[in-house]
Amino acid sequence: SPVIGIICAIPDEIAQFGSAFKQEKVTSHGGFAFAEGELEGKHCILVEAGMGKVNAAVVATILAQEFACKSLLFSGVAGGLDPALGVGDVIVGKHLIQHDYGIINNGVTESYHPGHLPIFAPSERFGYYLDEGLASRIGTALEGFELPMLSAEAGGGEARTPKLQFGTILTGDQFVNCTATRNRLHNELGGQAVEMEGAAVAQVAERFGIDWIVVRSLSDLAGEESGMDFIKFLHETAAGAAIVLRRLIRVL
Ligand code: ADE
Repeated sequence: SPVIGIICAIPDEIAQFGSAFKQEKVTSHGGFAFAEGELEGKHCILVEAGMGKVNAAVVATILAQEFACKSLLFSGVAGGLDPALGVGDVIVGKHLIQHDYGIINNGVTESYHPGHLPIFAPSERFGYYLDEGLASRIGTALEGFELPMLSAEAGGGEARTPKLQFGTILTGDQFVNCTATRNRLHNELGGQAVEMEGAAVAQVAERFGIDWIVVRSLSDLAGEESGMDFIKFLHETAAGAAIVLRRLIRVL
């Protein structure tokens, strides 16, 4: 079966696969540990990339080139941007944008498609779109699927079932701990979530002509409290992304 690459940024995210991942061997490339094994009956390579777009791009490239992966999946947490969403809700990326790629002019940021020269008119394409066939198979695989209940603390005062939806995910090399930036990213780019790796993985996957999927659960809401929420809810919320991702392996 085709080899599936699974990337996480931090130990709490990768730990969510636990004993569901049957590890066979580990090899090192560029200082990253690539764990080969079986997840949901498929041959997978699991790797902790560390944070940020460069780490994600290096690891994604090695998975495509060295391990001949036919799809690259990312599972992890993100900051929520959409006021309709709360901690613990899960987004499957339908549109990925690098929000810090572009031009900043008098304090105003304008994002561009990577490779496009910001001094020219906007390119006809912007960001990376989830493959349509894949999107429809994902939709089917997640029909009627419910995530485990969140604790009352994570659920904003009540134990609740997290939302699970497609959305726009923004990627940049900064942890967003700023209400003004949270609002700008939602209003200008229409993002539901902000993280630090997803669109870099999409960019590499597109170069290699292979599939990509990014799944993010919200550990915080990217405002002034995001640092504290991240620490408080990381463990509980990281589980949601891994649970969804495990379910999506069957559509590949
Ligand atoms: N990952 C989790 N929370 C985040 C945030 N607020 N900004 C960027 N990446 C994140």
